[in-house]
Amino acid sequence: MNISLVAGARPNFMKIAPIIHAIKIKNEKLKIKSGQDKWSFIKYRLVHTGQHYDEKMSETFFRELNIPEPDVNLGCGGGTQAEQTAAIMVAFEKELIAHPADLVIVVGDVNSTLACSIVAKKLNTKVAHVEAGIRSGDMSMPEEINRIVTDSITDYFFTTTTWANQNLLKSGIDEKRIFLVGNVMIDTLMANQHRFYPPPFWEIFNLQPGQYFVLTLHRPANVDDAQKLKSMIHEIVTNIDGLPVIFPMHPRTFKVYSELGISYPNLYTVEPLGYLSFNYLVKHAKAVITDSGGITEETTVMGIPCITLRDTTERPETVEIGTNELVGSNPKAIKAALEILKRGEWKKGKIPELWDGKTAERIVNVLIKLRDYSNYYV
Ligand code: UD1
Repeated sequence: MNISLVAGARPNFMKIAPIIHAIKIKNEKLKIKSGQDKWSFIKYRLVHTGQHYDEKMSETFFRELNIPEPDVNLGCGGGTQAEQTAAIMVAFEKELIAHPADLVIVVGDVNSTLACSIVAKKLNTKVAHVEAGIRSGDMSMPEEINRIVTDSITDYFFTTTTWANQNLLKSGIDEKRIFLVGNVMIDTLMANQHRFYPPPFWEIFNLQPGQYFVLTLHRPANVDDAQKLKSMIHEIVTNIDGLPVIFPMHPRTFKVYSELGISYPNLYTVEPLGYLSFNYLVKHAKAVITDSGGITEETTVMGIPCITLRDTTERPETVEIGTNELVGSNPKAIKAALEILKRGEWKKGKIPELWDGKTAERIVNVLIKLRDYSNYYV
């Protein structure tokens, strides 16, 4: 079985890492079982679209998570939504024609996910989507459009929750094609927790466990409007009794922030961090304030309070079961959430079902079944 495994942007890398490791382990086991030597049972080709290209947005994750060098990098970073999506489609079409696959696996909801699934379907190649079925209901987010379009042409749906299954069933997907497997991001978190280490500035800023905040912002709706970004930052840093706020800055955010000319004694802006030190920082924080989706899942599993500066989420289980609250970008709401935290009254969360570190193994078991019943499925 030949698979083309696609990754393009930072939140994809921690999702493909456990899948690659699980494929290797499965191939080893199958090899031992069959006694055959050089037979790789699931062959994969790793395609990096190049959507994220800075060392700190890409290579660091490959190195830290032990992801092999991509077989190809399509070099399609930057540009507008249409330019980027189109560039990835053109490059991936050539790639898939030159290296045909039985199945293209896409993960998450970034432009690379959408672009490569469309190309695959048009070349009559089956598509599997990892993290299928989640929905924010907010059509102003490029990611929501990516999710809906990708799922409308996907053949095999790997889902994180029963809620995602319900969304897919409601849209008319045959339940035989939906596989509730859990959350691959949490596989990566659990496999690497023991390797987390403090970022280089830990001692310089004199950070103490439970005595600082982590802030991340990169959604166009929050960061492209300079005044909105400025007022959100002001509200946060002035309502936390002077505790340090560590703000690892996404390139998109940096472009706007660097023009604001603001500075606060307790606001520490730093470059994007690698996976291991970013999650060290999260694990020891008093709370995380973010507009990311993946981080709300990680904080839920680590039991760290999470304030989400968005009005919607495609991951409602992080609010219903976990430690996350949707606060939006209104200064009054931000202040009110910070008050709850200061009083020590933030809710305690639980970990959703099947977020247990074994999701990639379940995905690979399904892949083997798809291969074995290929007349029926693939
Ligand atoms: C993308 C994803 C988003 C994900 C986020 C995480 C889409 C639609 N969005 O948003 O879902 O949460 O990544 O990081 O796919 N840039 C650099 N260096 C890089 C990467 C980007 O300078 O390594 C610049 C780009 O040139 C662009 C801007 O940052 O000007 C935004 O990058 P882009 O990939 O378009 O979207 P993100 O905001 O990163």
